[in-house]
Amino acid sequence: MGLSAKGQQSHRVAIFAAIFILMTLLILYGSNNINDPVYAPFHVATNHTIKATDLKKWSGKDGYVPVHGNKNMTLLCHNCALVTSSSHVLGSGAGEDIDRAECVIRMNDAPTLGFEPDVGNRTTLRVVAHSSVFRVVRRPNDFLRHVDANAAVIFWGPPNKFGKDAKGTLNRLIQRVGMTYANLSCFSVAPNKMRRFDNLFHRETGRDRQQSHSWLSTGWFTMVIAIEVCDNIKVYGMVPPNHCGKKPGSKKLPYHYYKPRGSDECLTYIQNESGRRGNHHRFITEKQVFARWAKQYNITFLHPKW
Ligand SMILES: *[C@@H]1O[C@H](CO)[C@@H](O)[C@H](O)[C@H]1NC(C)=O
Ligand SMILES: *[C@@H]1O[C@H](CO)[C@@H](O)[C@H](O)[C@H]1NC(C)=O
Ligand SMILES: *[C@@H]1O[C@H](CO)[C@@H](O)[C@H](O)[C@H]1NC(C)=O
Ligand SMILES: *[C@@H]1O[C@H](CO)[C@@H](O)[C@H](O)[C@H]1NC(C)=O
Ligand SMILES: *[C@@H]1O[C@H](CO)[C@@H](O)[C@H](O)[C@H]1NC(C)=O
Ligand SMILES: *[C@@H]1O[C@H](CO)[C@@H](O)[C@H](O)[C@H]1NC(C)=O
Repeated sequence: MGLSAKGQQSHRVAIFAAIFILMTLLILYGSNNINDPVYAPFHVATNHTIKATDLKKWSGKDGYVPVHGNKNMTLLCHNCALVTSSSHVLGSGAGEDIDRAECVIRMNDAPTLGFEPDVGNRTTLRVVAHSSVFRVVRRPNDFLRHVDANAAVIFWGPPNKFGKDAKGTLNRLIQRVGMTYANLSCFSVAPNKMRRFDNLFHRETGRDRQQSHSWLSTGWFTMVIAIEVCDNIKVYGMVPPNHCGKKPGSKKLPYHYYKPRGSDECLTYIQNESGRRGNHHRFITEKQVFARWAKQYNITFLHPKW
């Protein structure tokens, strides 16, 4: 009898313990949802005062090293169209407007072929990430041959991949591109300039890029280069920083206009913005910075307009 009473008691204790653990988990989970939402955004440091950098003066163009020969990066334009790779450009009918710009800037392997009515058919400058080099080189007709007479390509990537001392396949590949398309001015971003892009991110967000596990996007490089090169910039297809809200799912559109079945734009932005482990793009934070730059330089956003 005594034994069974004891057994009943320990049984009761076990049930109470189980309930207690369950409640604790529920409370923790609940408060987690309030204070630290699943999609906790990457925060611009709160005590950070932005020291505006004059991007028109910050560098000098020696930050771009010719891939072949001794060309200098001398591209200068009054009016530029910066065509993003976002599927917001689809259906815009902006192609002719884009082609009327003095210089047309594109990113990575974003094609024009088949999308001309929305993205136009000229390219003056293409900014290419190390991770996109293969895709660009594989289709030279689309990306390297049919370009404006003064066209340039700027490759960016970690200094160990590009540059005079780099030994990798990627470096050999872009050197061959530089030799083959002698009319095209090919540059890579110099190691010290890569650091300046990092420092700029730090100054504008208050967060050290590496310590905050952030990767800069091709959009970041392209926007800065566009400001260096152009007096006026029209940006096509870039959403404002608050476009996606806090939870993905409400607005579904492909991340890239040329990959209709690819990942969702807002999902990609929000997941990257909240990514903690590993390195992530901070697409939304970058756009907050772009919104500030838009007031300082002549930048207008179209499709969507903001
Ligand atoms: C304020 O910013 C500085 C560097 O900009 C940083 O070292 C410090 O930890 C920040 N303080 C708080 C309370 O966030
Ligand atoms: C590039 O710029 C450097 C320094 O300004 C100059 O010495 C050199 O002649 C230029 N090269 C070309 C091909 O214009
Ligand atoms: C593309 O190029 C052709 C010929 O260069 C031009 O006539 C056409 O209007 C261009 N623009 C678009 C949006 O297709
Ligand atoms: C390269 O430029 C030269 C002179 O500007 C021109 O005559 C030639 O046709 C161009 N070659 C190509 C492949 O565009
Ligand atoms: C972050 O963005 C890249 C595109 O640049 C994408 O491939 C990747 O899946 C995204 N990461 C997350 C966690 O969504
Ligand atoms: C903005 O555009 C005007 C007119 O084209 C130009 O004079 C001015 O220098 C530009 N401002 C900047 C900051 O580039």
